[in-house]
Amino acid sequence: MNVLEVFDPKKFVEAEIERTRRSIGSEKALVAVSGGVDSTTCAVLTHKALGENLVCVILDDAFMREGEPEYISSTLSKSPFNVPMKIVNVRDRFMQAMKGLRDAEEKRKMFRETFYQVLGETARKEGCKILVQGTIRADIMETVGGVKTQHNVLEQMGINPMERFGFKVVEPLITLMKEQVRMVARHLGLPQEFSERQPFPGPGLSVRVVGEIRPDKLETVRKATAIAESELVQHKPGQYFAVIMDNDEVQQPAEALHIQESVARLLNVPARNVRIRIFRDRATGVKGGERRYGKVVGVTVETVNGRVHQSAIQNLVMLQATITTKMPEVARIFYAVKDLPEKKPYVLGIRAVETKDFLTAQVSDIPWITLDAIAEETVEQCSNVSTVYYDLTPKPPATIEME
Ligand code: XMP
Repeated sequence: MNVLEVFDPKKFVEAEIERTRRSIGSEKALVAVSGGVDSTTCAVLTHKALGENLVCVILDDAFMREGEPEYISSTLSKSPFNVPMKIVNVRDRFMQAMKGLRDAEEKRKMFRETFYQVLGETARKEGCKILVQGTIRADIMETVGGVKTQHNVLEQMGINPMERFGFKVVEPLITLMKEQVRMVARHLGLPQEFSERQPFPGPGLSVRVVGEIRPDKLETVRKATAIAESELVQHKPGQYFAVIMDNDEVQQPAEALHIQESVARLLNVPARNVRIRIFRDRATGVKGGERRYGKVVGVTVETVNGRVHQSAIQNLVMLQATITTKMPEVARIFYAVKDLPEKKPYVLGIRAVETKDFLTAQVSDIPWITLDAIAEETVEQCSNVSTVYYDLTPKPPATIEME
């Protein structure tokens, strides 16, 4: 029998409320909500167990989506949840901490360190010795498997939270898979915008800004995220968002030529219409359960009238498979939806994937009309972007996020 069929969210909630009350007693606890399904569900569930002994904060760390802190706060603090929320503005602190870092793992580690330091300080201020967090099973599996440093995994990484940050960690959702968390969210009566919402990673937009995080780059991906989300939601992909990269290439003529020839042959177009860019910054991928940091290749195929060649997405995904199989050092293939002739500081990627367990994912078959609409609006609103790509890479060999 399917695990979801035997999972009873009502029983789970009752048992967890009981267990949380027993393990926390009359102590005060802190929970941080990012707006994703896991942390939101965790906060509402724990609030049922602890009532006003639970202090709920939204760390406005600069990497949240547009209007998100206010949106979460206004939804959860209203009836029927009545979970009071505090927005803690720590934007400058995070921007300072991440300044100048380019490597994905260094950024993830710095995010985690700053995140827990801030939470430790907040916990002390609020008189809390316990941190409740919405870690789920997949978070642990991938961090322990070495794919990436998940922001919320501590003890499994050999970090003692009490010694380092001054609190004990309680994780009510740790045995659950994402779909079970959604079942719990529905049972708790969370509005559909939350229970059916796509996941949003704890480190937020920071894992979607490839390479160095600068204020203008971050603001651009925030704007592009709002555009991509509003256009893609109609197709209900498992996860969908925008990413940003510096428009800096490395010169690797032999490799670029090789990819150009493959693309031309597979799409049956003249090689002179194919432009290959190998970007300087790298992205995270996964192979055989292990993390690898690989090249990002941008492919632009122009037609005779100067527009991009619009092949069926699944064809393009096959093209991606041919390239990444032959060249395992390539972690992603981006395909241009719009490529302006004038070079600007940034390129954007649109990501949309179908996934059940988030451990593997397929590229969503998004109609070109939607991709076009996103690209047009993005270049119109983001004057520092000259190319908008669609990411053709499944997981594996890529991860869902860029870092
Ligand atoms: P990846 O990129 O590893 O993502 O294929 C799998 C799922 O996990 C989310 N994700 C995270 N969630 N903290 C989180 O809370 C993190 O550090 C983190 N990294 C990735 C990602 O959005 C996807 O749903």
